[in-house]
Amino acid sequence: MAHLELKNLNKTYSSKVIPVKDISLTVDDNEFLTLLGPSGCGKSTTLRMIAGLEEPTRGKIILGNEDITFKKPGDRNMAMVFQSYALYPHMSVYENLASGLRLKKIPRTEIQKRVAEVAQILGLEELFQRKPGQLSGGQRQRVAVGRALVRNAQVYLLDEPLSNLDALLRERVRADLKQIFAGQKAPVVYVTHDQTEAMTLSTKVAVLNNGYIQQLDTPARIYNSPANLFVAGFVGSPQMNLLTLPCKNKSAMLGDFPISLPDIPTVPPQIILGIRPENVCIAQPGDTQTFTGRVFLVENLGMHNLVSVKVAGASQSQPLTIRALLPTDQNWNDQQITLTLQPQSIHWFDVASGDAVFCNQAVGVSS
Ligand SMILES: Nc1ncnc2c1ncn2[C@@H]1O[C@H](COP(=O)(O)OP(=O)(O)O)[C@@H](O)[C@H]1O
Ligand SMILES: [Mg+2]
Repeated sequence: MAHLELKNLNKTYSSKVIPVKDISLTVDDNEFLTLLGPSGCGKSTTLRMIAGLEEPTRGKIILGNEDITFKKPGDRNMAMVFQSYALYPHMSVYENLASGLRLKKIPRTEIQKRVAEVAQILGLEELFQRKPGQLSGGQRQRVAVGRALVRNAQVYLLDEPLSNLDALLRERVRADLKQIFAGQKAPVVYVTHDQTEAMTLSTKVAVLNNGYIQQLDTPARIYNSPANLFVAGFVGSPQMNLLTLPCKNKSAMLGDFPISLPDIPTVPPQIILGIRPENVCIAQPGDTQTFTGRVFLVENLGMHNLVSVKVAGASQSQPLTIRALLPTDQNWNDQQITLTLQPQSIHWFDVASGDAVFCNQAVGVSS
């Protein structure tokens, strides 16, 4: 039973560069945790501290009941997959898979057995004799994952393992990874800047920005109940509409159109409304939270059109634009249309802090 815990982990390189700030989280058996965030937010530094390749400036790393904060990487029984794959170019695929086990003085027959098992899962048997230079990107990636899997490690760490693959292959290998790691029990910590990878692979996602955890939650809750503006804007494609609106009486004013606020005692002067393009629809009779606007841009995404609408009644100096995902069977160009914001999908954020407010508004909250 493996239980990995980071307690108030910090890493400081200099007074200016503090890539990791007070990260606390746990990962248990059967959990797949993804550290998701933009480039430079501290993902790799956090992973390298877990692996023992960097020493934390402050905080603790606990594995099971043991404090491993300053334990040598070789003594941690963790397997890491690097973005660069880190294969030995002069060794065959078989040797690449087996070499780590040989160093550990594992008996030959046991090595053969484990390499054969992993090679079968990853479909590497036919490639045993080849050198890394004779493999495609996807095949190299599989060998790198294979090197980690043969270890029977207590914890698996993967740093952007798909980022060197082209889009189609990335999708395929992503699905493979999901199946491979679903079939083993040890905790996985996965690093990516790609929200689709985070959403599809993980049981738990930690969204990082600027060294801090912004939200640590299930993929569904990250998507449906973003804790703040950063998470709301970072997760979801096309991006959530985020509009700063003035408040009047008990409504936020979207141009000429009042969007009712939840029942609260004091209404702030301004508020940020968030709504995903898929939750902005053509209004039907009886709909509430509606507004009218003119389409000024249509982007064909294949399954939908991403339609940009200029909201009627907004001032010239501060035009309001909302993007909606609409069906492709109509020509939306330059049309005047009435849309509705699906009431249960509206998010509200505080202007000063960026934190989500009235969170009971958020829908689809599942644990
Ligand atoms: N050895 C180092 N010395 C100084 N700064 C570093 C070092 N390693 C990383 N950094 C800085 O720390 C920040 C976080 O880096 P990193 O964890 O690699 O980000 P990510 O993996 O999220 O892209 C970046 O600003 C990076 O430039
Ligand atoms: Mg990185």
